[in-house]
Amino acid sequence: MNKLWAGRTAGKTASLVDEINSSIGVDMRLYKQDIAGSIAHAKMMAKQGIIEQASANAIIEGLISIEQDISSGALEIDLTAEDIHMFVEQELTNRIGDTGKMLHTARSRNDQVALDTKIYCAEEIANIDALLVQLMRVLADKAESSAEIIMPGYTHLQHAQPVSFGQHMLAYAMMFERDRERLADCKKRILARSPIGACALAGTTFDIDRDFEAELLGFSGIAMNSMDAVSDRDHFIEFISAMAVIMMHISRLSEEIITWASSEFGFIKLPDEYTTGSSIMPQKKNPDVAELCRGKTGRVYGNLISLLTTLKGLPLAYNKDIQEDKLPLFDSAETVSICLEAFIEIVEVMQVNEQNMYESAKVGYINATDLADYLVVKGMPFRDAYNISGKIVSYCIGRGVALEDLPIEEYRQFSDLIDSDVHNRLSLKTCMEKRNSQGGTSPEQVMKQIEYIRAILD
Ligand code: ARG
Repeated sequence: MNKLWAGRTAGKTASLVDEINSSIGVDMRLYKQDIAGSIAHAKMMAKQGIIEQASANAIIEGLISIEQDISSGALEIDLTAEDIHMFVEQELTNRIGDTGKMLHTARSRNDQVALDTKIYCAEEIANIDALLVQLMRVLADKAESSAEIIMPGYTHLQHAQPVSFGQHMLAYAMMFERDRERLADCKKRILARSPIGACALAGTTFDIDRDFEAELLGFSGIAMNSMDAVSDRDHFIEFISAMAVIMMHISRLSEEIITWASSEFGFIKLPDEYTTGSSIMPQKKNPDVAELCRGKTGRVYGNLISLLTTLKGLPLAYNKDIQEDKLPLFDSAETVSICLEAFIEIVEVMQVNEQNMYESAKVGYINATDLADYLVVKGMPFRDAYNISGKIVSYCIGRGVALEDLPIEEYRQFSDLIDSDVHNRLSLKTCMEKRNSQGGTSPEQVMKQIEYIRAILD
């Protein structure tokens, strides 16, 4: 394709240069955003008298038809074009003639690409936010159906205290709530500063109206310094770091699902449609989806480091290095989207094995804190209660008996504050129900959290 920028040079480049220079394979994803930006630019120029209204109308009509044709597949994006901005402009001129050549007045690809990617980020934030909402709803539903299900709660991956499986699910809903906040914050900053009108780096000699163009595109304000506007990629960094945190959350849930689905745990079962087999071991049923999401987390972290490194030490203003920004951006958004979609389904379909969870929770003196709390209620200071409970646990371990099964006479050797009500107090169900402090694991508190989640989503 002929170079639209064949100004000083003849525009003839070595094929290797074309190859390394080309970004269309990646930035073709931006055609809609690019066309939206160009339509606003044409409107602004007509309003300011920079081009005739009739020319703007022809440009806008041409751009709309290009967008329709790319979307329908009638127009194939020419991969020999340098980038999507050049392709759209060239196609416009092919369609409407010389009027198309007016579009690039008072702008540069530098502010154009900054604009397009800001629009892309804002739109992706809306898409990913909607997926986070769905996932939070599924987690809340799962929590509701499993509010009474007892599982061993862990610290250090050792049995700690009995918790509701619903509580465990809701912990993830709370993580995704914070992810939504991060995205909303990122979007606010993106839309506060429209870069268009910064042009190559220094603004323009034309009497443009940046506020008007920004407003047409849904921005609340403009970037105040033209050099900053074309070189700023903070929004990429913020967006990808928000993606990295989402992936970190997903990978933690992935790890739990993988562990829970193992024979050793047997806490959950995944339906066959959500697992894969092995080409050699006929008995295998592998939790690949969770493993892949855990694995993809590394990719998104890598994207963040890749972009931070590209930007490190770059002088002002635009440098071609910045063209390398889009692959990590698109890859992060696409990776997070597919992983969220996968988890919306996985959480919904995973079957909880209540019996196995309960049997597991019964092992490991998980109710020892409750014994100490029991003694405190009977009047003993906590530290003493803690010590005596520890001795009772050792005693029970020696005899291979659970705390809730130790006969009352034997309890009495340790403290005469202990009564026959101790057995009921130490049942796992009571232990869970008694943790009724705000945010605790009692089914009552679990229901309150579900209400909270649903209220913020409605
Ligand atoms: N394809 C380029 C990018 O993605 C557009 C900007 C090119 N600007 C320039 N002065 N060559 O960054």
